[in-house]
Amino acid sequence: MPRISNKGQSMPESPIRKLVPYAEAAIKKGRTIYQLNIGQPDIKTPAKALAAVKNNDIEVLSYSHSAGFESYRTKLAAYYRKHDINISANELIITTGGSEALMFTMGSICDAGDEVIIPEPFYANYNGFATASGVTVVPVKSKFEDSFALPPISEFEKLITPKTKAILICNPGNPTGYLYTKEEIDQLAEVVKKHDLFIVADEVYREFAYDGAQHHSIMSVPGLEQNAIMIDSVSKRYSMCGARIGCVVSKNEDFMATAMKFAQARLSPPTFAQIASEAALDTEQEYFDEVIEEYTSRRNTLVQGLEQIKGVRVANPKGAFYCIAELPVADAEAFAKWLLESFEIDNETIMVAPAAGFYSTPNTGKNQVRIAYVLKKENLLRAIELLKEALKQYKG
Ligand SMILES: Cc1ncc(COP(=O)(O)O)c(C=O)c1O
Repeated sequence: MPRISNKGQSMPESPIRKLVPYAEAAIKKGRTIYQLNIGQPDIKTPAKALAAVKNNDIEVLSYSHSAGFESYRTKLAAYYRKHDINISANELIITTGGSEALMFTMGSICDAGDEVIIPEPFYANYNGFATASGVTVVPVKSKFEDSFALPPISEFEKLITPKTKAILICNPGNPTGYLYTKEEIDQLAEVVKKHDLFIVADEVYREFAYDGAQHHSIMSVPGLEQNAIMIDSVSKRYSMCGARIGCVVSKNEDFMATAMKFAQARLSPPTFAQIASEAALDTEQEYFDEVIEEYTSRRNTLVQGLEQIKGVRVANPKGAFYCIAELPVADAEAFAKWLLESFEIDNETIMVAPAAGFYSTPNTGKNQVRIAYVLKKENLLRAIELLKEALKQYKG
């Protein structure tokens, strides 16, 4: 029998999706599941983006430029300039989601065995992208007690070796909801310059900053042009996860030329989705104002609700739409399975993402779950009620 590669065998399963078979079985039993496990917003995609695809009379659905439509890149660069990121159209490549941008980045800056330092907990698919590229993830621990603020720079420095190529951050954070301050971004800038490393900032949640807090992009730090690489996406900004459009942005010409070779090898990003994404750039500010207001209210509902459950602790998120909660259970994964297999009230249950998969240090975060507040307020309230009852009944 032909053999599967070692790399293939070591590809990690997504902790967000691995409970799906249990959820499918529960749905077959007729159960309603409140899905708090996945970052799929229920917010409507801007009508303009959908209309641009519907009202199109394309006769040949052709490839586009490997870097993406020039018209889209030009308009996107103008969008960034409005957000204090001074880039031009040739300093960004349109990708198939932020996911592909991360793959191009790892492929462009790392050789097999190279190391990337990432504050943990982190977006679990970084493990998958790293494994696919032969890269070793080196976690640096951020603390629940500090709401997952940036670990001291001395902790990063302890981990830097001749194989270290980059520090990767997610700002605001998935799964933590932490939004880095300007001081933290400046500290990171200083350390990568000192050690001649790349800093890769995954900013796909950049618009989702609450309580009047400002998002500070890695691309706005002066003097960091050769080190900074930004990952972005339309998935969350416009609730367009299925479009599969993102981008990789950098002022480093060698990096961009290399990423472009990866882009050429996969030919081009999807055409219809670029049309939708280009049109989405005309979305009025009111859309974002309403979305941020809605998420702020959901965040408040969730955090207040969770804090009232005995034994539950939450790290209060300032951005994105996730939080990490500690539960009074020894093994959150077993609890999450039990919720789907054995628990119900009026034929309803909830689905959460066990947080251990967001850590790369073994046996960490075992009593934690990631909760995405992507549901309407009334559904969130019901989900919190279900969680409270479930914890009373659970004997784990
Ligand atoms: C932190 C982070 N980065 C990247 C992605 C990838 O997004 P996409 O490929 O849909 O742009 C996600 C998706 O959830 C994410 O949460």
